[in-house]
Amino acid sequence: MEKHQIIIDYSVYPDLNSLLASDQELMNHAVEARRNAYAPYSNFHVGAAVLLENGAIVIGNNQENASYPSGLCAERVAIFQAGAKYSGIQIKAVAITATSKNYIVKEPAAPCGNCRQAMIEYEQKQKQPIRILLMGEEGKIIEFNSLIDILPLAFNNSFL
Ligand code: THU
Repeated sequence: MEKHQIIIDYSVYPDLNSLLASDQELMNHAVEARRNAYAPYSNFHVGAAVLLENGAIVIGNNQENASYPSGLCAERVAIFQAGAKYSGIQIKAVAITATSKNYIVKEPAAPCGNCRQAMIEYEQKQKQPIRILLMGEEGKIIEFNSLIDILPLAFNNSFL
């Protein structure tokens, strides 16, 4: 038996102003997107902004449904839209932020497992890492250099 270890490096920034100007802009797009979330059932509003290599920014927000499983998370709305609109153009980074009508979201919003899997498909496809920036309503931001850092041992097409 061998013991293995996975070590994840990530950065924590105290606030939006501590980010590079371009990352601030990306997160501001996510904040703006969050305002248009359709979340009447959870009251949890998520915004995502995808930065592409050509400088374009594609946004998404969660879209809920009376038939709960038919809704979709912000990250998937955004990344699928980026794939649909800019097929073949590399994705550089995704910023994600969340707010709630029920409480103050102080901690960075962690993407769900389905969204991690959906997003990592694009990282695997382009063979270049996608940076992830996570923020709650405001304040602290966590940055991961690659999607594999938040989905170690991810399923991929080599298994198929
Ligand atoms: N949600 C997202 O948009 N992204 C995530 O990664 C986690 C959850 C949404 C889905 C649903 O509309 C609401 O947040 C509560 O789960």
